[in-house]
This record gives sequence, structure tokens and C-alpha cells, in this order.
Amino acid sequence: MIKRARRLRKNSSIRNLVSETKLHADDFVYPIFIKENLSGREKINSLAGQDYLSPDELQHEIDELLNLGINAIALFPVLNPSCKSSDAAEAYNRDNFLNKTVELTQKTHGDNVSIITDIALDPYTSHGHDGLLIDGKIANDKTVEVLCKMALSQAQAGADIVAPSDMMDGRVAAIRETLDRNGFEDVMIMSYTAKYASSLYGPFRDALGSLGSKEKPVIASSTGAKQSHDKEITSSATLPRNDKQTIPSDKKTYQMNFANKKEALRELEMDIEEGADIVMVKPASWYLDVIQQFKENSSVPVAAYQVSGEYAMLKMAIQNGILSESAIEESLTAIKRAGADIILSYFAKEFCRSLQN
Ligand code: PBG
Repeated sequence: MIKRARRLRKNSSIRNLVSETKLHADDFVYPIFIKENLSGREKINSLAGQDYLSPDELQHEIDELLNLGINAIALFPVLNPSCKSSDAAEAYNRDNFLNKTVELTQKTHGDNVSIITDIALDPYTSHGHDGLLIDGKIANDKTVEVLCKMALSQAQAGADIVAPSDMMDGRVAAIRETLDRNGFEDVMIMSYTAKYASSLYGPFRDALGSLGSKEKPVIASSTGAKQSHDKEITSSATLPRNDKQTIPSDKKTYQMNFANKKEALRELEMDIEEGADIVMVKPASWYLDVIQQFKENSSVPVAAYQVSGEYAMLKMAIQNGILSESAIEESLTAIKRAGADIILSYFAKEFCRSLQN
């Protein structure tokens, strides 16, 4: 036999030598939930192994991440319900909880860590949607105006990368223009370019208490009566004006249909045209074909987000002895092999710890 493929699988030193895909700690972004009015940390029930952190605890967490070689974090704030409103005004308050945390982190760690902040209105809207609701519809252009103010406040607080995850049309160009006009031409935009309307965001929404979470966001009427959004809210004389409308129960008018791949290419072309510095596919594992397509067609780096549901499924299977821990490395390697230059993953910390041993 002239050709024997098995020769290159002889032992681990040969296998490592010819390995086509290698994961490094600096491939990763670690998503972190920060929570208002918390001291220290608190377990996240929907995401075993992940904690809500206070701003001070976050600084210690970053020390740990830097020791593991992870240099980038994506921050998601969990807010007091009193911060939420139909106009999401708190989203662009320069001194809101997220922005104050960004400022502290920038002061503490400077350029050692890249701070990525999410741009979408869902933590700030009373109904939990990523955009403003006008007459029962997500109002694209009005939302983009708010997203620009939100991006600017995050840049002023010290965010290195702003990451629009809202899927409104035209937001990358508008945010770029706003940042440049205000002297933030060095702040990068990592766009959630192909973000699918996925069932895999469930644990994240539970962690945040946003739309579709098991704990439904509660809308207080002017009489103090409460109504959960899963009962569609229709005209009621007791509700404040903006809540007198039906609230869409999903995000399918802005997030992509999971049946579509060519449409992702159109989103990619628009985002690159509009000035995105990094483009993203989300979720990752069920969308490896889209990641590969982005890799082949993108002139900028490609990120992939292994989302909360992907993490939770693997974590539960491993915890219950159904899969072995090597499933983590396999899943992350597949995402990189498909073409991701950057991986956002809740496994980043535990996986990079295993790389060191
Ligand atoms: C909000 C946002 C979501 C995620 C990241 N940013 C949820 C959503 O769109 O409902 C999900 C991340 C995850 O599931 O890990 N725009």
C-alpha cells in the first residue's frame, strides 16, 4: 500500500503536528452578565456554571481571564425593572449601570482587555424587544436613532468595540457616522450580521428576564395592575398610551429565518459596505454552513457566537454523564474549522483552563 492515511494518526505528537485547526485562548471572547445591586457573584439558574457578577467582581474575573490568555469580554447587563420603559431611555444614559461598569473596567484594565458592549434595546424596553414598538410594530428607523445614542454613550464610557445585536436595517452605517462625528473613529463595530431567530437564546433570555423568558416581563399599568406580555395586550383604558398595543411574541420580523443562507450573504454585503469591522454569525453550531460562507466572502474577520442554548445543551449532557467533556473542544474546534476567527463562548474560561493543563 503506497498511501496509508493512518500513518499521520500514529500518536498524539504526530497528530498535533498535522492538526489543521488549533484553538488558542486569544481566539475567544467571554460573555459576562453583570447585575445591578449585587455584591460579589450569584449563580445563573438557566446557565449552570455561569454567574452574575457585580462590577467589582468583574474586575477580579478579568484578572483570571487574562491569566488564562483571554483578552476580550462581552458585557450584558441585568437591570432593575424600574430602569425599563417603552422608550428605552436608560439605554443611552451615559451613567447607566453598564456604562459605569465599562468606565470602571477601562480604568482598571485599560488596553489589556477589549470591552465589547451589546447594542440592542431588549434589556431596557418594558416589552423586551430589541427595538421600539410603535402601533404594535418594531419601528426600524426610530430604533436606529436610539441605537446611535446608545453606541455613543458606550463609546464615551470606554467601550473598545460596540456590537449591534438588534438586526435593524442601516444601523451599522448610522452608528459609524455617529461615532466618527463625535471623535470615536477608533471604536470598532462588531456587527451581529447574520443573527437568526433561534430557540437557542432561551437560557440567555431567562438570565436577563427579557422577551420569551420564563419569567415574563411585567408591564405595570397606570392603576398599578400588572399584565404579563404573553397575554396579548390590547386596548385598555387603564394602560399607559404606549402599552395600548399588541406586543409581538417573537423577534421574527427582525432576526433572520433559520431556513435562509443566501439572505445572510446579503446582510454580509450590507454590513461590510456600512463599515463593520467584524461580522458575526449567531448561533454557531447549527449554522456552520453560514460561518463557512462568511469566511469565503468576507474581507473582515468573522466571529461566531456559541450561544446560551448551545452551551446549556452540552453542559447538561456532560453534567449528566451522557457526553464526555471532550464534546466542548470538539464543538469549539468545529466552529473554528468552519471559518470563525473569533469565538464568543460561555465555555471560554473552562476550556482555556484545560488548555493550560
Ligand atoms: C440581545 C441578545 C440576545 C443574545 C445576545 N444579545 C438575545 C436575543 O436576541 O433575544 C443571545 C445570546 C445567547 O443566547 O447566548 N439582542
